[in-house]
Amino acid sequence: MASGQTVTVYGAYGHTGRFVVAELRERGFVPIAAGRDAEKLKALAAAEPGLEIRQASVDDPAALDAALAGTAAVINCAGPFATTTAPVIEAALRAGIPYVDVAAEIEANADTFAHFADRARAAGAVVVPAMAFYGGLGDLLATAAMGDWSSADEAHIAYALSSWHPTAGTRASGAVSRQRRGSRRIVYTGGRLTHRDDAPPTLEWTFPEPTGPRAVIGEFTMADVVTVPSHLSIPEVRTYMTVEAARDVLAPDTPTPAPADERGRSAQTFLVDVVVRSGGSERRAVARGQDIYAVTAPLAVEAVDRILTGRTRTVGVASAGEIFDAPDFLRALSPHITWEGPR
Ligand SMILES: NC(=O)c1ccc[n+]([C@@H]2O[C@H](COP(=O)([O-])OP(=O)(O)OC[C@H]3O[C@@H](n4cnc5c(N)ncnc54)[C@H](OP(=O)(O)O)[C@@H]3O)[C@@H](O)[C@H]2O)c1
Repeated sequence: MASGQTVTVYGAYGHTGRFVVAELRERGFVPIAAGRDAEKLKALAAAEPGLEIRQASVDDPAALDAALAGTAAVINCAGPFATTTAPVIEAALRAGIPYVDVAAEIEANADTFAHFADRARAAGAVVVPAMAFYGGLGDLLATAAMGDWSSADEAHIAYALSSWHPTAGTRASGAVSRQRRGSRRIVYTGGRLTHRDDAPPTLEWTFPEPTGPRAVIGEFTMADVVTVPSHLSIPEVRTYMTVEAARDVLAPDTPTPAPADERGRSAQTFLVDVVVRSGGSERRAVARGQDIYAVTAPLAVEAVDRILTGRTRTVGVASAGEIFDAPDFLRALSPHITWEGPR
C-alpha cells in the first residue's frame, strides 16, 4: 500500500475531483486540493476539515510547481483537458512525479500520447491518461478479455447506462471536442482515427441478462478508441451507447447528477459489455456498477496506488490496460465494480 503519501488533486472542487479527494482519504492517502479558484478551494476545505489547499492556474507554471511540491503524484480532474493536460503534465515532469488524469476527450487523450510519449519514456516518468470510467475501464476490460491473444480483428465496447445526467465539465469537454473536430464525428477504423460527416447508426446490442437487447447508438465514440489501440493490435475499435443515455447527455436541459446515497453517488447504474473478436472466436468481459463519475475515483486512486508501489509494467505515456495487470486491477475494484471475464 502507498497510503500515507500525499497526492495533489488538480480540479479538486469539481464533481469528480471531490470523489477523488474522498477516495484518497478513505484509502489513507493525504490529498492536497489544488485548482484555479481560491474561493472554491476554501469552500472545499471548510467542508473537508484538515484538507490542505493550493491555488494554481494552468498558465502559471510556478504556482503549479508549488501545487505539486513535495507530493508523490498528481491526479488531474480539471476538464476541458485540452487546456489543462499539457501544463499539468509539464509540472509533473518537472517535479519528477507520476501523472494520472480522467480525461474523456479523444483529441486531448491522443495529444497526450503524441506530445509526451518520447519525453516521458526518456525521463522514466509515468503518465496515465483517461484513468477513469471512459477510456480506463473499457481498456482494462478489453485487455482482460484478450487474455493470451496478442492481436484481434475487432473490439466492441457497449455502454448501458440507466441515465446520463452530465456535469458542467462533461458538457464543456464535449463542446471543446466537437469544436476541435469541426462538428464531425470520429471513429476508429482501419487502425486510425477518422472523421465522418454522416449520422451514426442506431442498432440493437444484446447485453448480458438482465439488461438484454437494447437500442444503442453505434459509433458513439468514447476515449477507449485512443486507449485500447495504444497498446493492443486491433484495427477496429467501436463504442456504443444506449439511446436513452445518449439522448440525456446531448439534451441541453438534462440536470446534473444528484446524490442518492451516503457516498454522494447518483442512482445511475452502468453495465459495460466488451467483446473482442479474432477469426471466428469471440471473448467477452463485463463490468457493472453505480455512477460513472463516482466510480472514476477508485479507478484513478487504484492507479496511483499501483504506480507508487511499483506494480506497473512500463514507463512513459501508457493507458490502464498497458501499464497494469488488467484482471488483477479489475479484481481490486471490488466492491465498486463487479466484473466477469477471463481471470
Ligand atoms: N473519463 C471519464 O469517464 C470521466 C469521468 C469523470 C469526469 N471526466 C472528465 O473530467 C472533467 C471534470 O468533470 P467533472 O464532472 O468534475 O466536472 P465539473 O464538476 O464541472 O468540474 C470541472 C473542474 O475542472 C476545473 N476546470 C475547468 N477548466 C479549467 C481550467 N482551464 N483551469 C483549471 N481548472 C479548470 C473546474 O474549475 P472551475 O470551477 O474553477 O472552472 C472544476 O474544478 C470533465 O472533462 C469530464 O469529462 C471524465
